[in-house]
Amino acid sequence: MTEPRQTREELLDSFRMAMRHVAATVYAVTTRHDGGRYGILATAVSSLSFDPPSLLVCVNRQASLHAPLANAEVFCVNVLGLSNRDVAERFMVGGADRFDVGEWVERHGVPVLATAQSSFICRLAHAHEFGTHSIFIGELIDAHHRADAPPLTYYDRRYIDISEAPERSAD
Ligand SMILES: Cc1cc2nc3c(=O)[nH]c(=O)nc-3n(C[C@H](O)[C@H](O)[C@H](O)COP(=O)(O)O)c2cc1C
Repeated sequence: MTEPRQTREELLDSFRMAMRHVAATVYAVTTRHDGGRYGILATAVSSLSFDPPSLLVCVNRQASLHAPLANAEVFCVNVLGLSNRDVAERFMVGGADRFDVGEWVERHGVPVLATAQSSFICRLAHAHEFGTHSIFIGELIDAHHRADAPPLTYYDRRYIDISEAPERSAD
């Protein structure tokens, strides 16, 4: 028996709806290029391996960060905490100086959010194109972590606080 096939539109709708309900950590991915600071808000970020310590970031080729990142030697993946919600909101404003909100410091030549939950400074090791996006792989050169910072989580198109979630499920 052949499975009924979803149309491309139905498939995209199902994908969109399913992804809306995947709770995601929110990151500010930043770099410096030709003297300017660039950054976008991203959720398509993952740790890749411990040997070597590495991460990957998926960036739309239309995004303002794409060309600077493709040409960068170093970039930073800032894991946003609940207290960095103002930075998340600022990073969604087009045309504005995204770095005028939040305490940004310069490390290894790139902007690092001093109050982030964690910051992973990476050397760009590899880029791979797929569809509308590039997957950038970074090898970790420096990392900072604040254990006491609750994470900022994106779920169902809004920010939520998962640090208050009960330890046991209700049912
Ligand atoms: C919660 C959230 C997660 C996002 N995740 C990504 C992502 O992983 N990769 C990406 O390229 N854009 C992502 N975007 C979109 C970018 O933040 C940005 O708006 C878009 O790339 C346009 O950026 P620009 O104005 O700098 O060109 C996300 C947006 C939101 C609100």
